[in-house]
Amino acid sequence: MEQDIARILIPRERIQQRVHELARQIDETYRDSSEGLIIVPILAGSIIFLADLIRCLPFKMRIGLMTLSRYRGAATVGGETQLVHELSTDIEGRHVLVVDDILDSGGTLMAVRSHLQERRPASLRVCVLLRKTAKAPKDLVPDFVGFDIEDVFVVGYGLDYDGHYRNWPDIGVLRPELYA
Ligand code: XMP
Repeated sequence: MEQDIARILIPRERIQQRVHELARQIDETYRDSSEGLIIVPILAGSIIFLADLIRCLPFKMRIGLMTLSRYRGAATVGGETQLVHELSTDIEGRHVLVVDDILDSGGTLMAVRSHLQERRPASLRVCVLLRKTAKAPKDLVPDFVGFDIEDVFVVGYGLDYDGHYRNWPDIGVLRPELYA
């Protein structure tokens, strides 16, 4: 696996430090309204981030699961966002925090946001670990952002290429010849 990574963009120690900072920000935001908070991770890319993040949160919360897909198999350019599994929890009147791995063109989060808004939550916020600043739409500003990154295809810490590299503990840039 290591030989497929061209360079490490964000080392594991820096990720952990930032996840703790994000959890503190989230705790401050929901300090008076964490009761009934539902966290909706966008599967499968956010699984590692989610697992680390929620274990830093000191209040009770629930997880609502839904699965969307934007990349099919061995592709690094996003296609149409497809809902693969419907949200498992009723969110009407609840505070909802969407957790995603990366905000790239914004197609996925736009689709998720309008899908969840229709279910009339009390509030809807978004937390992303990574944001590609060059491509993220100006009208979609996440409430919590881990790192702003350049426009390169990254893998590791949950992010995959063709299903692989999710278990790589750092965030790295895949060698371009592997997908070119
Ligand atoms: P959009 O373009 O909809 O993309 O904002 C968001 C979803 O696409 C995936 N994605 C990536 N996955 N490396 C990956 O492994 C990347 O550089 C990358 N860019 C986008 C990811 O699933 C994200 O939720």
